Amino acid sequence: MKLLVTGGAGFIGSCFIRHILKKHPEYKITNLDALTYCGNLNNLKDIETNPNYKFVHGNICDKNLVRDLIKDCDWVINFAAESHVDNSIKTPEIFIETNIQGTLNLLQASKEIGIDKFLQVSTDEVYGTLGKDGYFYETTPLAPNSPYSASKAGADMLVRAYWETYKLPVLNTRCSNNYGPYQYPEKLIPFFISQLLKDEQVPVYGDGQNIRDWLYVYDHCEAIDTVLHAGNLGEVYNIGGHNEKTNLEITKIILDAMGKDESYIKHVEDRLGHDRRYAISNDKITKELGWKPSLTFEEGIKLTIDWYLNNQDWIKNIEQKRLK
Ligand SMILES: NC(=O)c1ccc[n+]([C@@H]2O[C@H](COP(=O)([O-])OP(=O)(O)OC[C@H]3O[C@@H](n4cnc5c(N)ncnc54)[C@H](O)[C@@H]3O)[C@@H](O)[C@H]2O)c1
Repeated sequence: MKLLVTGGAGFIGSCFIRHILKKHPEYKITNLDALTYCGNLNNLKDIETNPNYKFVHGNICDKNLVRDLIKDCDWVINFAAESHVDNSIKTPEIFIETNIQGTLNLLQASKEIGIDKFLQVSTDEVYGTLGKDGYFYETTPLAPNSPYSASKAGADMLVRAYWETYKLPVLNTRCSNNYGPYQYPEKLIPFFISQLLKDEQVPVYGDGQNIRDWLYVYDHCEAIDTVLHAGNLGEVYNIGGHNEKTNLEITKIILDAMGKDESYIKHVEDRLGHDRRYAISNDKITKELGWKPSLTFEEGIKLTIDWYLNNQDWIKNIEQKRLK
């Protein structure tokens, strides 16, 4: 099986490539990544010499390149995206270009060439925000609130349209917040760890009571693998581990693990349009496909914090690049 993985130098994409090469060592993977500020080939150091792995530096918006690569592949898995909500609030244009135009480009080439499967990696943020109760289901209407989630929802709608209109064999996954190794230190967990390593305070938005539903990245990768192999074409699968935590709870877990007290918390002005609560139902993927998370939150967060503490050079390299 030959896979084109886009955005494979990022956080989840690099973990997915590692997961696939371990679980299906006979599969061949081409990783197409533009190496934007968060794409990092250090995420793939341990597999760069694997004969079944190839890296191509390029953009998913490049029509000719994408066509050439898809011609030689059976399945396309699209991780490539601008992924940071704060950046989307400041500069939404690039989110539309990569997340919508780029996905359209991949879909169109996949249709013209006649790909066997196209899997779009999406997010629970497309559903908007929840009150105190309830969950996001696959049938929940899309109601994105940030330019990031709107661009991901737009891409999901295109994926749906290519199924409905052209019967392109698509799959669409929507996952909750991921945590784990190799996450760019702009996102809450690695950012806070990197701040505390410098003995600096951690900025918590608003009252810190915003709730996110957290899943360990390799459990997400296993879920995508499951959907890729066993999912019903044309369908959406929510992925989550029922681990709702407030941002303040996560902050306190990190402070505790790093031997710091609450004086390191700095409450800052809330993010514009900050969604209050995400919680995702994983009933469909667990009942229909038999996937379930392998780790509890307590196990996953310990592994994650230990990884960042044991890989401080990985964080330092990124910080040095930012300063250049
Ligand atoms: N991180 C999460 O918690 C989470 C949760 C659910 C879904 N997702 C989705 O999973 C995917 C991966 O997220 P992530 O956290 O690994 O993101 P990331 O920001 O760490 O990685 C994105 C990767 O895409 C690459 N990229 C960006 N623009 C590109 C372009 N135009 N052409 C080719 N490559 C490009 C970047 O260089 C980077 O390597 C995204 O689609 C995101 O929406 C993320």
